[in-house]
Amino acid sequence: MSLSIRPIGPHFAAKVSGVDLRMNISSADVGAIEAGMDRYGVLVFPDQRISDDEQLAFTKNFGEIEAAQGGNITKDNEYRLQHGMIDVSNLDQNGQPYDRNDRRRMFNLGNRLWHSDSSYRAVPAKYSLLSARTVASRGGNTEFADMRAAYDALDEEMKALVEDLICEHSLLYSRGSMGFADLSEDERAMFKPVRQRLVRTHPVTGRKSLFLSSHIGTVVGCPIPEARDLIRDLTEHATQRQFVYAHAWKEYDLVMWDNRQTMHRVRRFDESQPRDMRRTTVAGTDMTAEQAIGAA
Ligand SMILES: [Fe+2]
Repeated sequence: MSLSIRPIGPHFAAKVSGVDLRMNISSADVGAIEAGMDRYGVLVFPDQRISDDEQLAFTKNFGEIEAAQGGNITKDNEYRLQHGMIDVSNLDQNGQPYDRNDRRRMFNLGNRLWHSDSSYRAVPAKYSLLSARTVASRGGNTEFADMRAAYDALDEEMKALVEDLICEHSLLYSRGSMGFADLSEDERAMFKPVRQRLVRTHPVTGRKSLFLSSHIGTVVGCPIPEARDLIRDLTEHATQRQFVYAHAWKEYDLVMWDNRQTMHRVRRFDESQPRDMRRTTVAGTDMTAEQAIGAA
């Protein structure tokens, strides 16, 4: 069985076969997967019947695991999954779908907005790996947008305008845009904005991409309405169909994406049914911009 990677998307996203993620992966295969990530941005591994421990072990091939803390409003005694696993299901700690008015549900609805995982952290995430343990019977696709292709398609004037811009990202902004502002003082302090470059360069390929996310609330030095107009315009541009790959989940798909060069969002589904999706995240290693004095 040898590893092979075949493109499935418009000009990014690929399917990986010939590897069993329950086993230790050879360093040659890890290298091939990293090279596939650099090239395609999104890799789909179908039919990988892994446990949480196996998912964590596979993830560690690519760097340090990023913890969930600081990225949600789940209390310490409410976690359904072990440390290191990010729960992006619609289930409470007893495995039941959230009630309609559960604030964790309302908070998680923010995942339906285009975003890059952990762009609200000073050091934003490298990869995310999402394993589908129970899929929605209808809906619940995850869509990915290629931020390199979106950057390349900007005209020269826009490239020059955005080149050195710095944005402020926070969960306060993405959740605020959904009308969810029911946050405690501690939560507000935890979600203090961080600064990120709007144009970033991939450390391996050297390709430039737009670092967009619904977590952006403003652009440093720019009046807020002007900043939001620009970010909306760019987001609309970057999420046109030709830049998007939509993944229709099958049970035990594992999808891995590079947050440094893609955005994603989940689409609506029947929330009365369990949709058990488990994420692990590879932490990034560098900030993209200097932080404001006294910030995170
Ligand atoms: Fe996400």
